[in-house]
Amino acid sequence: MDSKKTPLTKAPRLDAREASDITKNPYKVDFSLLASDENLHYLDSAATAQRPEAVVEAQKRFYENVNANALRGLYELSVEATQLVEDARQTVARFIHAKSPREVIFTKNTTESLNLAAHSLGELLLKPGDNVVVSVLEHHSNFLPWQIAAKAHGAEFRVIHPNKDGHFTEEELAEKIDDRTKVVAIAHVSNVLGTIAPVEKAAEIAHAHGAVCVLDAAQSVPHMQVDVQKLGCDLLAFSAHKVFGPFGVGVLWGRLELLEAMPPFLTGGEMIDSVSEEGAVWAPVPQKFESGTMDAAGIAGTAVALHYLEEVGMEAVEAREKALVSYLYQQLSALPFVHVLGPKDASRRVGVVSFTVDGIHPHDVASLLDSKHVCIRAGHHCAEPLHVWVGAESTNRASVAFYNDKADIDALIEALTYVWEVFHGSK
Ligand code: ALA
Repeated sequence: MDSKKTPLTKAPRLDAREASDITKNPYKVDFSLLASDENLHYLDSAATAQRPEAVVEAQKRFYENVNANALRGLYELSVEATQLVEDARQTVARFIHAKSPREVIFTKNTTESLNLAAHSLGELLLKPGDNVVVSVLEHHSNFLPWQIAAKAHGAEFRVIHPNKDGHFTEEELAEKIDDRTKVVAIAHVSNVLGTIAPVEKAAEIAHAHGAVCVLDAAQSVPHMQVDVQKLGCDLLAFSAHKVFGPFGVGVLWGRLELLEAMPPFLTGGEMIDSVSEEGAVWAPVPQKFESGTMDAAGIAGTAVALHYLEEVGMEAVEAREKALVSYLYQQLSALPFVHVLGPKDASRRVGVVSFTVDGIHPHDVASLLDSKHVCIRAGHHCAEPLHVWVGAESTNRASVAFYNDKADIDALIEALTYVWEVFHGSK
């Protein structure tokens, strides 16, 4: 049986200049849900991305041709499932420039990766009097696990407050991080403002104080070239479903020495060397952190999603999304009844633009946009401390991926004018 028969991906390969022409769209055709309905304008990729047909096909092939439990059987099908998981580990390692595939742990999603990190680093590092530093921009997934770990170990929970544009300075970092700091955990890209955190600086200051730097990269890996070695962080988390892969698969990358020192998070099947009535000896990294049956089909699909992105080319992705975000920001800002949050310089944003509409609740905005087949997110986007800090209870958020085009943004702008007229009447 050869589950790898025909190659699954053949993505359009454009250079950065060609890709940034948002009036053309050679990508949509690979995404059947988008291609099947030209009236659908999907602007919620920060919540979950669409998958190329190749990813859906990879999972189908797994169930049709392999469908055995990885790492558990000695028969051919199980060995093949194990091989697909290990191949995917190598693909992820290559994609984020990890030193070794052993540094790649498969989890369920970014949330589980960050809970693993907080639980395990809490056990390993935190004592009463220590502190953990996060920023107010964090998604709840990179806020709550650290708040809980800090409380559980008697440590202080410190929150960095950037300026209103969402950028934090070296001074702000240096003020909050000290010799009792054990962990600095920040979002690489904010899921509400799209701002990019000064990660290299944060890691440098954290390390100067002997602390570990953890990155929530859920909103950066789909949009920019991420090199864990250049960033200088110690742990990094992201989700497959936001990088055009399946639901149910997450990644935690970590420096090998650190992962080796960290205790496991979830315990159970296949994460041990031996178990006795007295105790257990953990399996080596990464298996120590991969308890229970893995979603091998999803992991195989994740590898195909990353291959697809490699074929598109991250330079093309970045160039196209820069053009999309810049046009989106410009068009939204030109509407007199719309207020855009975050940096005015669109080139300092990645992927998302959040906004409010005068006097209209974000849920009403999103529902009316849906009637025009425009999909965006409304609410606090799992970032309540950020919303309290900017003084908005909730917001609307439009987010893009490389498969979007100018027509998607024009449809949003036209539909927003319709929303305004429903509430206020036409001029
Ligand atoms: N974390 C995802 C978002 O920001 C779900 O929408």
